[in-house]
Amino acid sequence: MCGIFGYAGAARDAREAVLEGLQRLEYRGYDSWGIAVVSNGSISVDKHIGLVGYDAGSLPRSHIGIGHTRWATHGKVTDVNAHPHYSSDRSFALAHNGIVENAPALKSSLQKDGFKFISETDTEVIVRLIERRMRKAKTLSEAVRLSFKDLEGRNTIIVLAKSGEIIAARNGSPLVLGLGTSSEIYLSSDVFSCAPHVKSILVLDNGEMVAVRERAITLSSIATGKKIKQVYEKNLLKDVVVSKGAYDHYMLKEIYEAPFVIRQVIKESDATYLALARAIKRARRVYTIGSGTAGAAAAQMAFYLRLYGHIDAKELIGAEAFEYKSLISKGDVLIAPSQSGETADVLEVLELVHARRATIASFVNMPGSMMTRLSDHKFMANAGPEICVMSTKIFVSQIAWGYLVAKAVEGKLAEGKRNLKKLATETEKLLADDKFIAKVRGHASRLAHKEHLYLLGKGQNLQIIREGMVKIIEGSYVHAHAIPAGDLKHYAITLMAPGVSVITAVSNDEVRASVLNAIHEVRARGASVFGIAPQTDENFDEFLAVPDTKETSAILNIIPLQLLAYYMAVELDHNVDKPRNIAKSVTVK
Ligand code: G6P
Repeated sequence: MCGIFGYAGAARDAREAVLEGLQRLEYRGYDSWGIAVVSNGSISVDKHIGLVGYDAGSLPRSHIGIGHTRWATHGKVTDVNAHPHYSSDRSFALAHNGIVENAPALKSSLQKDGFKFISETDTEVIVRLIERRMRKAKTLSEAVRLSFKDLEGRNTIIVLAKSGEIIAARNGSPLVLGLGTSSEIYLSSDVFSCAPHVKSILVLDNGEMVAVRERAITLSSIATGKKIKQVYEKNLLKDVVVSKGAYDHYMLKEIYEAPFVIRQVIKESDATYLALARAIKRARRVYTIGSGTAGAAAAQMAFYLRLYGHIDAKELIGAEAFEYKSLISKGDVLIAPSQSGETADVLEVLELVHARRATIASFVNMPGSMMTRLSDHKFMANAGPEICVMSTKIFVSQIAWGYLVAKAVEGKLAEGKRNLKKLATETEKLLADDKFIAKVRGHASRLAHKEHLYLLGKGQNLQIIREGMVKIIEGSYVHAHAIPAGDLKHYAITLMAPGVSVITAVSNDEVRASVLNAIHEVRARGASVFGIAPQTDENFDEFLAVPDTKETSAILNIIPLQLLAYYMAVELDHNVDKPRNIAKSVTVK
């Protein structure tokens, strides 16, 4: 993952502009960070491990700079491995997002030519490749272009030359250019990081590169070096405010935004839903795909499509779709919910099936993403930025959307919208109920000190407890294990014993009795059960009452689980918004 950023313009101090951009890109990785600026014809670099923060004065004042926030792939988290990396003669510095898959081969060829390496990164291979090309190439831009062509994998780079030129090239990992209100130029891994300052954006496609020199922007093809026409879009995120407000953490604020995101899903026009419903009904096969939390959302959507749409939909996990790549083609529909629209595992499948002319639908929150661009049916979550690395409100919006698409396929779109409206109201009431919140918090402080937690669910709640598990693991680092309620007796029952805690979410539906049956079996072995349900049961040792919203009950049930995970992380004094080792947007494989 990693985020890259660049600034050129007279209006701002580059150190501050880049620093602010990196802080907004930190969701992409927060192991280490670095900034490079040009001043008086030379480049200065400052790099640190840990969260982005600035020791003012260590870099000269400048109007041109680049920066990087790192999520380590090749090489440990050290100052030396942090980007940007200098060229040997310090005539340029480079930052990188991606993985150079052929780095070992390139490195040994460079070593044979006498090039020395000081870091453990694959990024330094790109730096040395450019240096080697510079021996013959007429310009730095040409050396960058030719070197970039030698790289395998999904990579994006940004290069700062001591002349003040900035060059960036994209193949896989995202890259946008923003035009500032005072004609300054921004380059970044996403629109959001420079959104307050830019009026229009240019989203680079794979295989494109851009050079910025004294305010002149050149967009060209990496393959041919030929110029490409620049098409700018309005920056729709300009006025989006990013603030925790009165909340202690973004995660809590975002959980409280659930009613808002559900209403955003309802707002999308009937025609857009119906067009996708028609494509689904016509399809030979329907697949849903996502990674991590979006994978759980994709699976929940497939469940809804099967249950309400009577469509034999199949869920795929982005990184585990290998054997499906040859099966999906024209006539099939592939549906991808994704916060970023840039997740590499999913994009790789989408690009492949797009080439085979399968129909693609996506539900994305970040504007200008590659997934949206690849899609025949483009839905936007319009949920506002999700800052906490743990996804909460986006998961709610993804499954609400999945539910509505399934209702559209069923021919009951209006009923689906009404049900979601009620769900938004009930969720709002629940979140405003201080007694409910205090109860969740009480359970969280108890459960946070367990070594293991088990979650049981079935039917509409199966993916919900799976996502509850994901949230608990991400936030509290407590080992959690989601078990399909009916499968318990086949294996995990061996783990049930006195002192063991089991969490369950139960709805008033046709599988309720069967879940309660599994809970009996758990209790009979001495484990204790914490139930989330509309009404209590004699087998719940602890109980959290939630309203019965019928068909949308599972969507509501994720809220207490998200809150539970939140308060567990708070109880353990963890960095709630930035849990260790993970990143929000995974644009490398
Ligand atoms: C990462 C994040 C998850 C997210 C997943 C997919 O693993 O930590 O929260 O669900 O990527 O991201 P996407 O942008 O496709 O929703």
